[in-house]
Amino acid sequence: MQEQPSSPARAVGVGPWDINLAGIGIALPDKRLHNNDLTAWMDTSDEWIFERTGIRERRLGGTTSGLSIEAARAALADAQVDASTIDQVILATTSPDYMLPGTAPAVAHELGLTCGAFDLQAACSGWVYGLVVANGLIQQGMNRILVIGAETLERMTDYHDRGTGILFGNGAGAAIVDRDTTGAGRLLSWDLGSNGKHIHILYSEHGGKMKMDGREVFRQAVTVMQESATASLERAGLTVDDIDLVIPHQANVRIVEAAWKRIGFSMEKTAMVLEHTGNTSAASIPLALHDALANDRIAKGDKVLFLGFGAGMTWASAIVEWNGTSG
Ligand code: UT7
Repeated sequence: MQEQPSSPARAVGVGPWDINLAGIGIALPDKRLHNNDLTAWMDTSDEWIFERTGIRERRLGGTTSGLSIEAARAALADAQVDASTIDQVILATTSPDYMLPGTAPAVAHELGLTCGAFDLQAACSGWVYGLVVANGLIQQGMNRILVIGAETLERMTDYHDRGTGILFGNGAGAAIVDRDTTGAGRLLSWDLGSNGKHIHILYSEHGGKMKMDGREVFRQAVTVMQESATASLERAGLTVDDIDLVIPHQANVRIVEAAWKRIGFSMEKTAMVLEHTGNTSAASIPLALHDALANDRIAKGDKVLFLGFGAGMTWASAIVEWNGTSG
């Protein structure tokens, strides 16, 4: 029998691919729930919550589709492109408007679109998963993809529970991800992963509220952030010092600090917004990206590392060479 040739080594997650984040937009509902408000019905304090999490307030109100549409319109305006040029809508969310159907078709409809539209459920890693999927679709011929992360976690949060009630809020962030024809904007590498062994450290039953083993989530988060960041750095052939800005999932500033101690990143090169948003799951990374751009923290040619982790557990990281919007 003829010997089969061994299959070629798969270079999974190793780029570069020519894409560009051409526009970023966000939406935050007006209603604020400050730590001091929580003390009216919970045995806690602003000092305790801020010291343990870095959070002072979170936003409540809105719907996942409504926040998505607002963020998407802002991203389209930022990129200066018309909605009709979008080839695909990807909506990363853990808190869709309905169990059925997904929320993405309603968002597409409001934007005047009949292109493909689907929800992506990878918890807090969802927006980075969406970015990687968008890149795959662009490599298959699409030109422009709307990648949204949007949540109304308020509906799944028990604000009387001291573990979860202090953390979560609503919000949305959207990116226009384009095929880059200039050669300047590139996705250099990515890493996606999951470990379903940990389902029950953070979960919610149908129609129920979130239940969490906070200490275990903390522990696992630090480990997977280190592993995923290292994987993306190695695949891009980069070191920690090559990264100009890290945009981590905004869950808890202490998780980020603990992970950075292991990896070697500095807080100076880190985008954080959770003080004023709380944990907004799939929305948190695009919210922090928008803030970094608004504060001129990203320049053309910069290497930006997105690093997410969340329930599942899932994790995701991606390194982008920046050629996009200036915010
Ligand atoms: O996207 C991922 C989302 N999940 C996360 O990011 C969760 C990660 N984990 C965490 O952020 C932390 O585990 C929490 C902030 C949720 C809790 O902090 P902790 O340091 O793990 O607190 P703990 O549950 O171990 O409790 C320590 C102490 C206890 O008091 P004693 O027994 O030491 O006297 C608790 O009763 O803190 C007390 N405590 C609180 N005190 C004031 C627990 N929750 C609160 C609270 N306010 N909200």
